[in-house]
Parts: sequence; structure tokens; C-alpha cells
Amino acid sequence: KDRSFTCTAPVNIAVIKYWGKRNEELILPINSSLSVTLHQNELRAKTMITLSSSFDEDQMWLNDKEEDISNPRIQRCLREIRRLATKTCSIDPSYLEGHVQIRSENNFPTAAGLASSAAGYACLVYCLSQVYGLKDVDISVIARQGSGSACRSVYGGFVSWEKGEREDGEDSIAEQVCPDMHWPDLQVLILVVSEQKKTVSSTSGMRTSVETSSLINFRANNVVPARMDEMKQAIKEKDFSTFATLTMKDSNQFHAVCLDSYPPIMYMNDASKYIVQLVTAYNLLYSSPRLAYTFDAGPNAVLFTPGGNIGEILGLVQHYLPPNPGAENYIRGVSAGQAV
Ligand code: DP6
Repeated sequence: KDRSFTCTAPVNIAVIKYWGKRNEELILPINSSLSVTLHQNELRAKTMITLSSSFDEDQMWLNDKEEDISNPRIQRCLREIRRLATKTCSIDPSYLEGHVQIRSENNFPTAAGLASSAAGYACLVYCLSQVYGLKDVDISVIARQGSGSACRSVYGGFVSWEKGEREDGEDSIAEQVCPDMHWPDLQVLILVVSEQKKTVSSTSGMRTSVETSSLINFRANNVVPARMDEMKQAIKEKDFSTFATLTMKDSNQFHAVCLDSYPPIMYMNDASKYIVQLVTAYNLLYSSPRLAYTFDAGPNAVLFTPGGNIGEILGLVQHYLPPNPGAENYIRGVSAGQAV
């Protein structure tokens, strides 16, 4: 007999960035982070898993191409789920001897470098927990061990990842700050300025930063803790102006840490910097910010703006950002989507 399950998981965009690990094996961060989970209409990962006692080995396909399942992060997620399934006797024991076939896909171009690992691992772990019949387990703790940012995609809306203090990482978990319907007016726009794969992966980039940057510890110890509190408050109060300012400052500081690393890491390109200038100039037209940018480990921009503003912003983008990114290079979505 087989057990099958299919699910989808959304992408999340950090407005307070996770950058740097204190434990590489367990993926424990040096600072807490906070993200917005996007609506699944636009960007999501999808996974289908079949567990069968008749399969001889575990296998995995990503976008129809067979993947090497010996990848240590995938193995760690599988091991954790099986350990919990054995412990809680959640399914017929014959399944615990069986193997899985995993089929995953993204509905967005992986080349665009948009947080695909976060949605991918959140989806994988949730789907595994279902085929193994697990109930009442914190999926975020396991998703975190696939890719740090994945623990935040386990929840919808506005989500924090609390760094935790424990050596075993059991308190390094994601928590929902506010549900998706809390702030429906907040809109997200993704500007794809380059479809090239990123030059330095997040994993190796943050390792270089931890080893060489002196700014990174100042950020983790002296900046992020207070910023997390202020950001949570701004979200609760739907205070766009504070949300925008903190989002932009945090993106800037993350990229400053990258530049402070040696050899320096440069994720933003000329088009990204132009977008920063454009947003800054636009905000100067008003008494408080109406538009915010943030950049992850790549040159593509994510913009946040109140809903009533979206027409004006699309006009701005189309007028000032030719020829690439052009009008067709944006993805629009309502910000707050639901969880896996
Ligand atoms: C810049 O979660 O991809 O997007 O834990 O090594 O898999 P690993 O890294 P990953 O890093 C994401 C970094 C970031 C900021 C963020 O999403 O918080």
C-alpha cells in the first residue's frame, strides 16, 4: 500500500534579513529575522510525495529532472521526519521500512533567483510530515534544517524567526506575528532585473561574512534586536512609514555587511542601485515614505507599497526603468498569503 500527499508552499521575502549562522550543521542563525509570506497565486513551490514499502530507494525530481537525494540537507529533513514518525508511532510500522518518491516543482523561473529554497524546503517538510502522519510537531524546526529561511514559509502573513539560545536549536523557530488578512492593503512588486543565477550562494556568502566581517556582529548584537521589536510594532499598527524605513535600512545594512566581507560580496548591480535611487527620489516627494525596496542575495528588487499607490508605482516603473526591467518584468501580488 502507498501513502501519497501533495501540497504547495509560498515564497517569503525578508524585511529583516537573516545573514550568518552560529551553527552550520543545525542552521542556527546569529540574528532573528522577519518576513512577509507572499500569496501563492504568484510564486509557490509544489511537492508530491508517495511513500511505499515497495520502493527500494528514496528518489527525488525537481522540475522533472532527477536530483541527487544524497544532498545532506534533504537527508537531514528525511531523517528528522522518520525519527519523529518512529517515536510517535504515527503510521503503520511497515511504512517506516519503505521509501519515498518526491516530485517538486516551482511555478516561477528558478533562474530569477527568488527565494526558491525557502518555499521548496517548507513544502518538502510539510509534505513529508503528512505522508508520515505526523501531528502536533513544529514543522518550522525541521524546515529550518533544510534552509534557514524555509522555516518562515511554514506560516502565512507576517512571520518572525526567533534566533533562539539553545545549542540544540529547539527554540530557533518561526512564529506568526500577524495573519495574512491583517494588512490586505500592503502590496508587493517584484522587479526582475536579471535572470542570471546568483554568483555567491547565500550559504557560502554568509559563511564568508561570519568569518571576515567585523560589521556583522555589530549588526546581530546591537541593531537587529531593537529593529525586530520596532518592526513587529509597525506591522501590528499597519504603520507603513516605519515599516518602509526599517525595511530599506535593513536591506542596506545587509548589503553593507556583504561589502564588508572579504573577499567582498556584491549582490546588487547597477540596475539595483538605480532602483534604490528612484525609490529614494520618489519618497522625497512626500512627507513620509510611500514605497520601500529590499534586495536579497541577488540583484532583483522587491518593492512594498500601500494598495492605493500601485497604479502610480507601475507607471513609475514603466517610465523610468527601460529597457530592462521593463513592463513585463514585474510580478504583482498581494503581500500577505497563507501558509503551506
Ligand atoms: C538574504 O535561507 O537561503 O535571503 O540557511 O544557508 O539555506 P541557508 O540560507 P538561506 O538564506 C537567505 C538569506 C536572505 C535573507 C533572508 O531570507 O532572511
